[in-house]
Amino acid sequence: MTTLAPNPAAARRGAVAPGPRGVPLLGSLPQWKSDTAQFLLRTQRDHGEVSRMRLGPYTVHLVTAPDAVGRVLKENNANYTRGVLYEQFRLVMGDGLLTTDGDYWKSHRRAVQPVFLRKAVSAIGPNVVRATREMLDDWEVRARRGEPVDLVTETLRLTLVTLSRSLFGYDIRPAAPVLKDIVDNVIEVMFKHGSVGELLPSWLPTRRNRLIARDRRIFTRLVTEIRDNHAATGEGPLMELIEAATDPVTGARWTDDEIRDEMLTIYLAGHETTAVALLWTLVSIANHPAVAEELDQELEQVLGGGECAPEDVERLPYTSQVVDESLRMYPPIWIYPRDAVADDELGGFHIPGGSSVLLSPLVSQRNPRYWDNPEAFDPHRFDPERVRERPRMTYFPFGAGARMCIGNFMALLELRMITAMIHQRFRLRLVPGDFLRYGDTSISLRPMTRVLALPEPREAGARA
Ligand code: HEM
Repeated sequence: MTTLAPNPAAARRGAVAPGPRGVPLLGSLPQWKSDTAQFLLRTQRDHGEVSRMRLGPYTVHLVTAPDAVGRVLKENNANYTRGVLYEQFRLVMGDGLLTTDGDYWKSHRRAVQPVFLRKAVSAIGPNVVRATREMLDDWEVRARRGEPVDLVTETLRLTLVTLSRSLFGYDIRPAAPVLKDIVDNVIEVMFKHGSVGELLPSWLPTRRNRLIARDRRIFTRLVTEIRDNHAATGEGPLMELIEAATDPVTGARWTDDEIRDEMLTIYLAGHETTAVALLWTLVSIANHPAVAEELDQELEQVLGGGECAPEDVERLPYTSQVVDESLRMYPPIWIYPRDAVADDELGGFHIPGGSSVLLSPLVSQRNPRYWDNPEAFDPHRFDPERVRERPRMTYFPFGAGARMCIGNFMALLELRMITAMIHQRFRLRLVPGDFLRYGDTSISLRPMTRVLALPEPREAGARA
């Protein structure tokens, strides 16, 4: 087990947090850019659970001490705004739930919340089953030809189709490649964070700014189609709420721009994250035969080869733990920032107003102080008695507090159902490759290359 530096409790209250020295002007930017995740894991190991570094012009604190994470996300969350890194998102997504703060954010969150409540999300069940069945039928054909599937493309398409049908009542299949392009560009925008390009004004016709403007034009056209479709069919419970939403002060309907930005946010935040989580879950199962076997036993016993309905999920604790463990090791949103408005103290260290705080589910969830042998994939970490032993905020793949992911119940239900359905019908044999690389400076943990796998149909599943 790795030992950590003697921190989080600072010896002297209000002290400046320790951290990597970095180089003149750039600070730790070179290490950050070469492999962000590994750099941050090393920083936690060497400097403790609250550390300070300079990234170019920014002073940044990496915060992984559970109490301090809780203070940022919950107890003192009013002091921590989205900050400079979220400005990058705003360029593409505009003013949606992910990028706004204050009363605007609150009224928008309230307006759309009802479809995301725990008891409401089971309504997505039939769409999850239908889209997964469509995908698996296609895998059946490809398996007969001995053709591999690319898990990156397959999972992105599956979660996009499910989200679009379930929330917006819209069959997005013909437009799926367009959405994929937009997602790739969002990732590129985040990827370039810290480069000179980011400091140039958004009206300059740089390649990056042209790409963003093009994406927003394309999505604006798609929004018109989705809204027209809803007007004609009445389908899509989220579309219904968005069309009816009003400003709580003026009583005015949301403008077309407000609607577009919120739809873009939900489409982008909702499907890429879930796809990445599903991909790592499938890869982890394929790499751990003992996990696959235990999964088999549970699925055989509970579902007996049949498809998975939302009400079945409660009776699949091991399947849920496999997903939980995958979200521990590979949290799709593995890092996110806040800016401190006023001075604060975290883990005993001084946090100056105006400086940034980085929270990283990936680094926290691999902290050897709370996770024994953190690099091992072990779903039994989520046995209920072991969960109770761990402090809160050692695990937060969906964030926490008021800004916790609005789609967490939906994502978990989808991930559990899809994992169960795939595993009942197929074993995935991964085609060796360089895909287990993560930790680029992107905000998403999507592998940067294809992830090829051969789907091998299973007797019982195939019969069912
Ligand atoms: C495994 C899948 C998912 C993961 C890991 C994930 C993760 C997160 C995280 C960590 C945040 C908080 C970011 C922060 O506090 O800065 C967040 C926010 C958000 N997520 Fe998710 N998410 C997932 C699925 C979804 C889905 C399915 C939807 C919608 C359909 C969604 C929509 C959103 C939105 C709109 C926000 C902003 C919420 C707010 O600030 O009010 N996410 N997500």
